[in-house]
Formats: sequence, C-alpha cells, structure tokens
Amino acid sequence: MVRTSFFTATTLDGFIADEDDSLFWLFKQEQRETDAPLAYDAFIADIGAVAMGRTTYDWLVDHLAERSEPWPYDMPAWVFSHREAEPHPGADLRFASGDVAAVHPEMVAAAAGKDLWVVGGGDLVGQFADAGLLDQVIVQIAPVTLGAGRPLLPRRLDLRLVETDRNAAFIAARYDVVGPLEA
Ligand SMILES: NC(=O)c1ccc[n+]([C@@H]2O[C@H](COP(=O)([O-])OP(=O)(O)OC[C@H]3O[C@@H](n4cnc5c(N)ncnc54)[C@H](OP(=O)(O)O)[C@@H]3O)[C@@H](O)[C@H]2O)c1
Repeated sequence: MVRTSFFTATTLDGFIADEDDSLFWLFKQEQRETDAPLAYDAFIADIGAVAMGRTTYDWLVDHLAERSEPWPYDMPAWVFSHREAEPHPGADLRFASGDVAAVHPEMVAAAAGKDLWVVGGGDLVGQFADAGLLDQVIVQIAPVTLGAGRPLLPRRLDLRLVETDRNAAFIAARYDVVGPLEA
C-alpha cells in the first residue's frame, strides 16, 4: 500500500518555522544521526514523490542558493502554488493548484509503488488529511519553544503513537493517522 506521510522537524510547541520562516532554532541543535530509527535516510529511501507548498519551496530554493547546493530530491516533486515560478535547475518539478485529492493519483503513479512525502507546510498537510489521504506523521521534536510561527498541523486529528526514538537532543515519534478527532 502506498502511504502518504508528513515527516518534519518541529518545536516542542508545534511550529515548523518561526514567524519569519526561519529554521535557526533547528540548525542550532546538535547534529542528529541521519541513519537512526525514524531518521531521514530510511524514510527517504521509501519515498517516490514529494509535495510542498510555495513558502517551503521558496525557502528551499533560497537556502540552496546560499549554500551553493543542488536540488536535494531525486524523485518528482509537486509545488502547490497559485503563482508561476521558474523550476529549480535539476529538479523534476510540477506546479499544481487547488484540490490536493485531484493531484494525489498523479503522485501515486509517479512514485511507482513507493510512498509519498508531504514536506509541508502544515496547512498543505492538513489539506491531504481533510481529503482522507494522510496516513502517517513522523516528527523530530527539537528541545525549543517559539511561542508563535508556522504551525505543525493546524487540524483536529486523532493519531495513534506507533514508534519512538531518541536522536541526539530530539525525540522522534511516528504516528498513524486515525482520522478526524471526535469528541
Ligand atoms: N521544520 C521543518 O522541517 C520544515 C518542513 C517543511 C517546511 N518548513 C518551513 O515551514 C514554513 C511553512 O510555510 P507555510 O506554513 O506558509 O506553508 P507552505 O505550505 O510551505 O506554503 C503555503 C503556500 O502554498 C500555496 N498553497 C498551499 N496549498 C495550496 C493549494 N491547494 N493550491 C495552491 N497553492 C497552495 C499557497 O501559496 P501561494 O498562494 O502564495 O502561491 C500558500 O500560501 C516554511 O518556512 C518552510 O520552510 C519547515
């Protein structure tokens, strides 16, 4: 079964970036092992297509330019945006707009049996959850709070804790998405 996952770092109080879209709070942390349980290496090995919102894409493009680094994903990537953009050199990019459920089958086909990663932001992940298309959430919780910023997942969802691990100063946790949170 093809799974659609949200894999991200977050602050303890549930923000994936600060109000200026900065990740300084993440990069100041002690280096994590990328080959630990629930860490990036094993996760990305099973991913066949990714999706991200426009803010995340713009942040990534600026970040790569600052560091003179190439596009990091080998697999096709969908960028959700209402605005045209130049595709990043070396990236297999498709721009999409509107209903994520209409795009999901294209992503599944392109992934050729592998899983899908919704990189963020939180509302885009929420759009997949609204459509019943979000299967799991894997978070790397940094030991910081921000008080405000870009929310992790601004929806009311019921999750089931499946697995945890400690990686340097981070708690990693994997959850299955059960469905909308009911009283
Ligand atoms: N901590 C981490 O590991 C991590 C992971 C991922 C992201 N981040 C950061 O978190 C922040 C997330 O930013 P964000 O909350 O603004 O979210 P975002 O999803 O990156 O961007 C939101 C924008 O995406 C476009 N969009 C979203 N859904 C759409 C749809 N269905 N159709 C068309 N366009 C759509 C809209 O842009 P337009 O209407 O303007 O085109 C919207 O304003 C960024 O700073 C990112 O770098 C951190």
